[in-house]
Amino acid sequence: MLKKDLIITIDGPSGAGKSTIAKLLARALNYRYIDTGAMYRAIAYAYMKDQRARGKGQTPYIEGEQYIKGFLKRLCLKFEFEEETKVYLDGEDISQKIRNQKVSMVASHLSKNRKIREYLIAMQRQSGKDGGVVLEGRDTGSVVFPDAPMKFYLDADVDERAHRRYRELSLQGTKDSLTKIKVEMVTRDTQDSTRALSPLVIPAGARYIDTTNMDIEEVLNTLLSFIIKRK
Ligand code: DC
Repeated sequence: MLKKDLIITIDGPSGAGKSTIAKLLARALNYRYIDTGAMYRAIAYAYMKDQRARGKGQTPYIEGEQYIKGFLKRLCLKFEFEEETKVYLDGEDISQKIRNQKVSMVASHLSKNRKIREYLIAMQRQSGKDGGVVLEGRDTGSVVFPDAPMKFYLDADVDERAHRRYRELSLQGTKDSLTKIKVEMVTRDTQDSTRALSPLVIPAGARYIDTTNMDIEEVLNTLLSFIIKRK
């Protein structure tokens, strides 16, 4: 029998299959699922809205600390951790609106900011502290819950990851070419891995899994076998 209160973390670059696997794993174990990327995306969406309201352009540059402080104070974000991570901004469900390339890029930019990271990490720790949870992101095993008993790092060949992202975005109706998606993905990965705060790393003690030649079921079963063995 599995202990009910495990904290499981899954980190890795975009397109490595983290979201799909984290969701399935949470369902299989009857755990809660926390998509931390959705939380950074939510901040990005709110930031873009705030900038528009102030008549600023679309450039994803980071405003000064005073602005960020005020922005976070004004922010009215609510998260619901269900089958999907649901996001509400000022009461509006923006869960689908955060799923595009523009929001991805702004999220990656803003995730370098200390105040923003502290704000979200505090929420993530609060939401996951009682266990029975699968967290997925870039720093969930290295910074958010470094003592989690089960940590995974999912990776895949860059072309395979670009193809996966392309298929996912195409299904949502995006017309962007595979090349464009790959370039943006590599830019974002570099940004996420080279930033000073909580860069994407393989957390100490994490199981590294290369999913390039694996299908979803194989990846899920691999993770489950490690989790069961641990008991
Ligand atoms: O996983 P995603 O593509 O939804 O994440 C969007 C961006 O959010 C990602 O490029 C970097 C940032 N992020 C982060 O800095 N830390 C996390 N734990 C999750 C996401």
